[in-house]
Amino acid sequence: MMSSQILSDGELDREWWKEAVVYQIYPRSFSDGDGDGVGDLQGIIDRLDYVADLGVDVIWLNPVYDSPQEDNGYDISDYRTIYHEFGTMADWEALLEAVHDRDMRLVMDLVVNHTSDQHEWFQKSRQRDPAYEDYYIWREGDTDEDGEPVPPNNWESFFGGSAWEYDEVRGEYYLHLYDTSQPDLNWRNDAVRQDVFDTIEWWLEKGIDGFRMDVINLLSKVEGLPDGDPDSEWTGSEHFIDGPEMQSYLTALDEAVLSNYDVMTVGEMPQLTVESAREYAGTDGPLDMAFHFQHTKLDYDDGERWSVGDWSLPELKTIVDRWQDGLAADGWNTLYWENHDQPRSVSRYGDPENYRRESATLLGTFVLTLRGTPYIYQGQELGMTNADWETMDALRDVDAINHARELLERNGVDEYDDVREVVGYRTRDNARTPMQWDDSRNAGFTDGDPWIKVNPNYREINATAQRTDEESVYSYYRRLIQLRSDRDVLVYGDYTDLLPGHETVFAFTRSLSTDAGTERVLVVLHFDDGTETIDLPVEYADATLRECNYDRDDTDPEMVTLAPYEARVYELFD
Ligand code: NOJ
Repeated sequence: MMSSQILSDGELDREWWKEAVVYQIYPRSFSDGDGDGVGDLQGIIDRLDYVADLGVDVIWLNPVYDSPQEDNGYDISDYRTIYHEFGTMADWEALLEAVHDRDMRLVMDLVVNHTSDQHEWFQKSRQRDPAYEDYYIWREGDTDEDGEPVPPNNWESFFGGSAWEYDEVRGEYYLHLYDTSQPDLNWRNDAVRQDVFDTIEWWLEKGIDGFRMDVINLLSKVEGLPDGDPDSEWTGSEHFIDGPEMQSYLTALDEAVLSNYDVMTVGEMPQLTVESAREYAGTDGPLDMAFHFQHTKLDYDDGERWSVGDWSLPELKTIVDRWQDGLAADGWNTLYWENHDQPRSVSRYGDPENYRRESATLLGTFVLTLRGTPYIYQGQELGMTNADWETMDALRDVDAINHARELLERNGVDEYDDVREVVGYRTRDNARTPMQWDDSRNAGFTDGDPWIKVNPNYREINATAQRTDEESVYSYYRRLIQLRSDRDVLVYGDYTDLLPGHETVFAFTRSLSTDAGTERVLVVLHFDDGTETIDLPVEYADATLRECNYDRDDTDPEMVTLAPYEARVYELFD
């Protein structure tokens, strides 16, 4: 029985992207090389040694293509040009070379559900240029009982309001599931798919190492574009998420283009379930992995994104178990707390006031020891926190600004202060405040005026201070990244949740038996600001405490008393 579970090295199904730790760079907010207040490619090149020193393997770069920046680059006007404030194609090529020189890889963002309305394709489409007439999703509107024009259906934009905008030039409505400036491409059109495939190939030929694919499960819309359930989380989504042609579009992309390159692909997939994840990114699926959002909704009140709700550890564990177990035999997990769309994790799931270092390192332990590929967002490794958004003028995020207006209207109030708590908590601007490099002006991000406010806590929380401090969040992340890359068990090992129902402690093992022997790791995470003593149901002869966010002697894991937000990583020996 035991021997049948022992894998030989060849049976591990090794892939470089499973063994990698990914670091996400949001260029606008990372480092400004030319003093105009906006981060850029030269700024990234200047800071690349910092990223390499952290020990990560892959950089995922948010969009750097030409764009009017209505949604900070997720509105692309030219897929083959670099946005001028970020630099030139020569700068981008220098970045790719510098990344490769440091033995890291570069993954680009692929945004092909929509373009900018400034894209040449859209400009031609609205003029009914025959070659582009069908590049987007155009419909005549309806009229209501009073003869007033209304959009073709009740679908909503993720950023608020109707998903349809009337275009005077063409005299029709176009679909935009995000901002009005982001019209959805019509993937039913063969020419659209071919143009997109060519663009992808063009970038792959430049030597990149993969793509993060923006809202990629939204490409296929149900024929006839029927009305959606107005009570659902996102009206219309049952007709445009995981639509009928999704598998065929992505399989065609994989067969025609992706499979010719040794690259990683990760799909961003709203409302993703384990079952669909296996279809998209199981062994036979077209992609390597996918981002789901289930844990990012734990702090929604009653399913509403623009709210601040309580969350509980048992709920989080239910989600983790579902994904760890569900993709154990087929598929591969992504592990993340943060990205450019999410508030800072320490402000959401930790305690930024009293236990910032402890809770930030606890959250780091979580993403670096579960089974899957960890994604770390810039500044997460410093324990950066949410900022205060005292006035509406300080906000930059189109999503937050639209929703702030909507909330004011819905609540019948006109003071921003009345919606400040929820908007300030949820705005994506929290992730987009400049990277905190040091305690000099503007956190060392820019010599100019930053495009968005700098979090004033940069004087205490910054990279320079943390790099020389062994106890810092940064140093802890660095050690744990190293541990993960040294131990196959942390990549490939099986996952077992030891205390699924426990209210405040998450304890799990990872174990791997190969013909080289058995490796076993025990992770204990205390998600609370009190103390807790636990008795763990785990058998072993000997244990070594490898990492802990408190100064501990090598303690035995059998009966442990955990301090606030304590995280422990043990190696167990039979
Ligand atoms: C998801 C991206 O992560 C987000 O930043 C963007 O606004 C939307 N997709 C639309 O592209």
